[in-house]
Amino acid sequence: MHSRRSLIFAAGGASVAALGGLGAYRVTRKPQTALLPWTKSDAIPVDVRLDAIRHAILAPNPHNRQPWMVKFDGADALIVSCDLNRRLPETDPFDRQILIGFGCFFEIARMAAAERGYRMTVEPFPNGQPGARLDSQPIARLRFILDSAVQRDPLFESVFLRHTNRAEFDVVRGVAAKPLAQLRDLASSGATVKTENEPSRVQIIRNLAVAAFIKELDISRTYMESARLIRIGSKEIDANPDGISLGGPLFETLLATGQISHAAVEDTNSAAFKQGREPQIAPYRSAPAYIWITTPANTREAQLETGRVYVRVNLAATRMGLSMHPASQALQEYPEMTEAFTKMHSLLGAQNGMRVQMLARIGYGSAAAPSPRWPAQSHIIP
Ligand SMILES: Cc1cc2nc3c(=O)[nH]c(=O)nc-3n(C[C@H](O)[C@H](O)[C@H](O)COP(=O)(O)O)c2cc1C
Repeated sequence: MHSRRSLIFAAGGASVAALGGLGAYRVTRKPQTALLPWTKSDAIPVDVRLDAIRHAILAPNPHNRQPWMVKFDGADALIVSCDLNRRLPETDPFDRQILIGFGCFFEIARMAAAERGYRMTVEPFPNGQPGARLDSQPIARLRFILDSAVQRDPLFESVFLRHTNRAEFDVVRGVAAKPLAQLRDLASSGATVKTENEPSRVQIIRNLAVAAFIKELDISRTYMESARLIRIGSKEIDANPDGISLGGPLFETLLATGQISHAAVEDTNSAAFKQGREPQIAPYRSAPAYIWITTPANTREAQLETGRVYVRVNLAATRMGLSMHPASQALQEYPEMTEAFTKMHSLLGAQNGMRVQMLARIGYGSAAAPSPRWPAQSHIIP
C-alpha cells in the first residue's frame, strides 16, 4: 500500500544539510497526543472490555485507518462494526484487507482479556454475512467470560513493541530456517503460514512484489487514495492520528521551509515526484525472506482468521528481533492488478481457490517507530 518513506519525493531531493538556519523548536517537534495510546498505563480499567479495547487499537491495520467501532452490549459483550468511511475502496475494493485488520484487533483483544483471566469468544457476523462489501451490520459480537482455565498468552508482552517496519532490511544476514519454522508453526486450522528464504526464489517473489508496488504508484486513483491520507508534521499527525504519517525532524524541516506540501505530494507530474520514486520503492526491494498467509478459500471468516494469525506472527517475529513489512499490492483485487495477482498466487503455491491473504517481507532492520493512534475512547459508540 504505502511506504512511510513515500513523499520523500515531494521534497524534490532537497538537502537537509542546506537547511541549517531553522529553529530547533520546529525540527524537534514531536506529536503531543498521537502516540499516547502506546504508553503503558498502570491505571487498569475496571471493565475488562475497556482493557481489551485499549490494547486492540494497537493492532496492525490497512493504511492505519483504524476503522473499529465498538458498542457495549449488556454486561459482558461488545458489538464491533466498521466505520465505513475508513475503508480503502480503490486498493481494497471488497474490504478484504479491512477485515483482516479486524481479525488483528480481535486477537489482541483476546490476549488482553486473557491477561485478566477472561476468555473472549467471537461470534462473527451475528446479523448475517456482508455481501461484496462490508455494511453497517456488526462484524462480530465479542463476549468476555471469567474462566479460571484461561491461560495468559506470552505474545501479549510484545503488543507495545510490535511495529510495521518499512526500513531496508539486512540482506546479507538473511533469515535462518529455524525462526521461520517457528513462525510457520503459528498457523491455525483455517490459515496456513508459509515462508521463503532461498535467495533465487526470494528474488522472483521480490521482483513481482516490487513491480506491483510500482504499478500501484503509477495508477492515479490508487496512488491518490494513499496520497490523500498523508499527514505531514506533528500538528497534522496530532489532529488526525491515522493514515500515513510523515513526521520527524526531516519532514518538520521540509514543512517549515515550504519544501513539502499536500499540493506537491498530489502532483504526480512534478519533478519532485519523479525524483522521489526510488526512495519509496527501495524498502520493497530489500527482502531477505518472505512470509505469507494462505486460506483454503476467500470467505469472510478466512479473512478474519488471517488477521488473527498475522498479528500472532508479527508479535512472535518481534520477540525474535525480526521485522516485518507487508507488501500487499500484488494481492489486491482491482483490474490493473489481475496479472500480478494471478502470477503471485501461482508463485506462492495457491491453487484451487486458495487465497494468499497476506504477504510480508521479513528480516532484520533498524528499530521502527510506533504509528499514531486515535484514543480508545474515540472508537466507542455511546
Ligand atoms: C491487511 C494489511 C495490509 C497491509 N499492507 C501494507 C502494505 O502493503 N504496505 C505497508 O507499508 N504496510 C502495510 N500494512 C501495514 C499497515 O500500514 C500498518 O499496520 C499500519 O500503518 C499501522 O502501523 P503499525 O503496524 O506499525 O502499528 C498492512 C496491514 C494490514 C493489516
